Amino acid sequence: MAPGLIEQASHTLSTGKSYPKSKNAPVKYMPGRTIVESHNETYEFEYLQPRFPDVHWPALTEIPYYDKGLDGDPEFKNLLSSATDVFDYNPKIGTEIHGLDLANLTDAQKNDLARLIATRGVVFFRDQKNFDINAQRELGRYFGTLHKHATTSTPKQEGLEDVHVVFAGENSPDLRALFTPSFLWHSDVTYEIQPPSYTSLKVLTGPPQGGGGDTLWSSQYAAYDQLSQPMQKYLEGLSALHSAEMQAEGSRKLGRTVRREPVVTEHPLVRTNPVTGWKSLFFNPGFVTKIVGVPKTESDHIISYLNEVVSTSPELHVRFQWNKGDVAFWDNRVSNHSASYGFAPHRRHAVRVCCQAERPYLDPNSKSQEEDLHERYGIPKANKDGSGIVNYND
Ligand code: SIN
Repeated sequence: MAPGLIEQASHTLSTGKSYPKSKNAPVKYMPGRTIVESHNETYEFEYLQPRFPDVHWPALTEIPYYDKGLDGDPEFKNLLSSATDVFDYNPKIGTEIHGLDLANLTDAQKNDLARLIATRGVVFFRDQKNFDINAQRELGRYFGTLHKHATTSTPKQEGLEDVHVVFAGENSPDLRALFTPSFLWHSDVTYEIQPPSYTSLKVLTGPPQGGGGDTLWSSQYAAYDQLSQPMQKYLEGLSALHSAEMQAEGSRKLGRTVRREPVVTEHPLVRTNPVTGWKSLFFNPGFVTKIVGVPKTESDHIISYLNEVVSTSPELHVRFQWNKGDVAFWDNRVSNHSASYGFAPHRRHAVRVCCQAERPYLDPNSKSQEEDLHERYGIPKANKDGSGIVNYND
């Protein structure tokens, strides 16, 4: 079927989705024009609408973290024995599981889930009706101490300050106009001393089918594997500054309270994931401002090159089309993500919960994803010596 909208003799439900009245109704197709839902009725998730509380919190200090993925079964047996379907989106990143209720997992299943997220970068679940904001926070707390964002919106309902609200409505600015597409790629709050690991995002309301608002993830395991061996070694010796300053300044300009003073933190540019033992790039187009210990021109070029690797390599990417109630669970240590814009005037409302992980480190003896999968399953490694260059386009 062609992209865009099939608008039939139809009725629109409160989700904004349209359903044919009868099989034989005439089809009226208007490319790129999805039905705009009406929001006049009482909104089910009013209590999760965004607000910017005027409160102040102390600086974060280092806290203990134990990764539950370490207790997961290497074959994820506890989790997958109850699933009705499981499939990967591509070899490098992204898996979807059906038949599980995230609000009712045993501890053994939660441990397997953590291990699977660390392995696959991001895992998707459809239609998680029971996984309300309390269940989402409870599962987040099982994985670690919940992170409270210093500037972004939290829900209207008080006491949920560890929840980050994503909201775009009729009057929201389209971020494409404010930032370059590569800058919109980011991993969350990597300027913190202990940036998050397991992060869940649930879409409460979103554009109807064909209306946009997809999210994309980019694997940092695969980004590391894409680099030549000399480049891998070079970057392994470097660290980067991750800065919260621009985000805080933006909030202040909008007259919002910065709830915790912005920090700038130095992290290794390549890190090891404690669960998989794999090396990944640890680069963030959204917050890395400088590569430490090299001249500025060199730093600028490395940043520009890594922006390109993260944001423009299709085989690193997975793209998820949301329906109401779907949940994505990612490992923020080993992936970047980007929302896609241009879905106005549809409403898009989601809630995110994440926990603080270990302070990033590099174990020089750890392997890469590609090396490990090659050894275990014989999956071919890429030839990256630059030979055999031809014009591949047709
Ligand atoms: C985020 O950037 O954390 C949320 C991504 C999205 O809105 O799709």
